[in-house]
Amino acid sequence: MPDARPRALLVYFSRAGWNYHDGDRRYLQTGNTQRLADMIGKLTGCDIHRIEAAEPYSDDSDDTVARNVREQNADARPAIANPLASIDRYTTVLLASGIWNVRAPMIMSTFAESHDFTGKIVHPVTTHAMSGLGTTERDYAASCHGATLATGLAVRGEEVDDAGPAVQAWLRQNGLIAA
Ligand SMILES: Cc1cc2nc3c(=O)[nH]c(=O)nc-3n(C[C@H](O)[C@H](O)[C@H](O)COP(=O)(O)O)c2cc1C
Repeated sequence: MPDARPRALLVYFSRAGWNYHDGDRRYLQTGNTQRLADMIGKLTGCDIHRIEAAEPYSDDSDDTVARNVREQNADARPAIANPLASIDRYTTVLLASGIWNVRAPMIMSTFAESHDFTGKIVHPVTTHAMSGLGTTERDYAASCHGATLATGLAVRGEEVDDAGPAVQAWLRQNGLIAA
């Protein structure tokens, strides 16, 4: 019998290495968004796709800031090393990343524009230092063609590991786990 439950996919981009941490810098073996994605995966059992950049980002934060400024100014679409063939089977897509200069890294636009989101629900999910969802709601509304934008989730990068209860509540409120 076909499975009638809505299928959810979590697509994320996350960078390990030097990053901001409570006004200081810290070397992260695993990026903040990756840890949040792992948590959401465990709680929901959703499918997960991690976006890898064809040209990997430096683990140096200053180099990454500089590259991101260049990519934002050029409205670039950095290439993806592991493109996902299709999102057809999913009704709900969570798009997760850190916030870089108040928006999602440009590679998230590369992903969004390479799929047809007609009839799908998109939830922006971010980890950040202080910018919350940044401009992701507006940006995904423009780049995810045909999608209906739904409530986002923003978690401070420094607080990901303690965010279980808040993440669970958000998943419940949005019908991604049982009430
Ligand atoms: C290039 C760069 C730009 C950033 N810009 C912002 C920003 O504008 N606002 C903010 O709140 N955090 C900013 N941050 C912090 C990241 O959003 C935050 O550390 C996030 O959790 C990183 O996710 P990741 O570890 O999964 O890559 C920036 C970090 C980097 C590396």
